[in-house]
Amino acid sequence: MDSRKTRAGGRLVLLTISALWAPPTTFGQDVPSAAGDLRTTPSALRDLAPQCGIWIGPAVAYGPLIDEPIYGQTLGREFNLFTPENEMKWAPIHPQRFQYSFARADALVDFAAANGIALHGHTLVWHQQLPAWLSSGSFTRDEMIEILRDHIYTVAGRYSGYAVAWDVVNEAFNDDGTLRNTLWLDRIGPEYLDLAFQFASDADPYSQLLYNDYSNESINAKSTAIYNMVSDMLGRGVPIHGVGFQLHTTLSGINLASFSENLQRFADLGLDAYITELDVRIELPVTDDKLATQANVYRGILNACLDQLACRALQMWGFTDAHSWIPGFFPGFGAALIFDESYQPKPAYHALANRLSQCSQPNRRFIRPRFQR
Ligand code: XIL
Repeated sequence: MDSRKTRAGGRLVLLTISALWAPPTTFGQDVPSAAGDLRTTPSALRDLAPQCGIWIGPAVAYGPLIDEPIYGQTLGREFNLFTPENEMKWAPIHPQRFQYSFARADALVDFAAANGIALHGHTLVWHQQLPAWLSSGSFTRDEMIEILRDHIYTVAGRYSGYAVAWDVVNEAFNDDGTLRNTLWLDRIGPEYLDLAFQFASDADPYSQLLYNDYSNESINAKSTAIYNMVSDMLGRGVPIHGVGFQLHTTLSGINLASFSENLQRFADLGLDAYITELDVRIELPVTDDKLATQANVYRGILNACLDQLACRALQMWGFTDAHSWIPGFFPGFGAALIFDESYQPKPAYHALANRLSQCSQPNRRFIRPRFQR
């Protein structure tokens, strides 16, 4: 991808297609493509989800997409939206102050475009995976604002027309509802939140701009702090369109009643809701009983999303147990996703497919990028 002209061309195509969109491949790289015959599998999740009015997708990593053909084949067959797991974070994409590194992120977007998959960008402001030049730099407040502006304009601008949503700010709150003490808060002050959304809107006026966090699915101190922040932003005209609920959970599941009530209060503000990083980790060893319980947790969360018109997407943090952050970050746990390590669908996959095939009101609402409303 090398010119504004091609990006505008992609956008024009998007404007003319509603539910399933497929902008042209403009990044000019050779990327794997899902096999065409696999795409017609009638029960693939991506063929079922539009009937329910939601996007369905995983987080995606560059390495396995390049190394393992079955990874791309499964991805292209099953999903219509994905989030780059790491490739658009600050450290990989902006390794030096005046140097960006787009090759891996572009390859993922190429794959998405070639396979009719929409992009969910992740993430423009976070306190982790920052490059050393930034985290150990000593910049003035004005310089930090300029660095933030340049980054968001460059990254969100590059993928404008491909991204249907962006996680603009990720994990800005502590569980007690206070603002997390991050580099951004420390160097810029709370105004960084407004600035990030304004810069993202300037750079990509077409995508849904989201605030994303974890442990915010129930009504609690953190979700209430987020609610208060987004209400305040909306009142002041800050461009924010939705909230992401990561939903990294366990076999104990979540309080579904509280989740539904919580979704409703955000919906009442006119905001959309995205389930952004769902996984249901299992304490090893895996048993059939645990897999059945896991399927129930997935099904319950999908039900809550389908019961809420403002819920736009069910996204998981990966799709195969062969590639998941869980074993590395939660020792003793694993098997959190809907395909096993051999890319075979698990009971959780069948639970999702089964529920998605039961939507009684096909096209209860169109799924489409924000700019098509
Ligand atoms: C994780 C990735 O999965 C890992 O590969 C990486 O080492 C650390 O970050 N919440 C988020 C994601 O918003 O960006 C995190 O992703 C998981 C938790």
